[in-house]
Amino acid sequence: MMKDSHQTTVNDCGVIDIRKYYDNRGYLSVIEGGVDIPFEIRRIYYLYMVPETSRGAHAHKQLQQLMIATSGSVHVTLDDGRQRKTFVLDKPWKGLLVAPGLWRDLDNFSGGTVCMVLASEKYEAEDYIRDYQCFLSFKGL
Ligand code: TYD
Repeated sequence: MMKDSHQTTVNDCGVIDIRKYYDNRGYLSVIEGGVDIPFEIRRIYYLYMVPETSRGAHAHKQLQQLMIATSGSVHVTLDDGRQRKTFVLDKPWKGLLVAPGLWRDLDNFSGGTVCMVLASEKYEAEDYIRDYQCFLSFKGL
């Protein structure tokens, strides 16, 4: 059971090993909603051809996500208002589970990175917090 998103911390997030199957034809990885990750998948989006820049700079009130660098690498910094933690995604079988209620910044994209995001909800603009001070208020700070 996921904590209330006002209470979540960076310690509620972490990198998981995505199931992988190997034979002489190479690797296959699979993620089933509700089985390999704690939510059903309602949306997938992906970032690619990212120039030298950072993305993100927002929090979600309810959305849960799994982020995967299916190719290349990216740094994801999560922030709960008190603590920050940076995760390096650089393998197609590593996925970062992101709890709701955390500020995120994505940077250090290597050339050719594809960062795929599996999300628990469809796109809802009202679920975004794009102002850091508003985020701190959301966290009661
Ligand atoms: P944005 O949230 O700014 O990207 P980032 O994840 O790097 O913060 O999204 C960029 C644009 O894409 C913005 O106009 C909204 C649109 N968008 C959708 O329409 N649906 C989606 O599922 C997502 C993630 C973004």
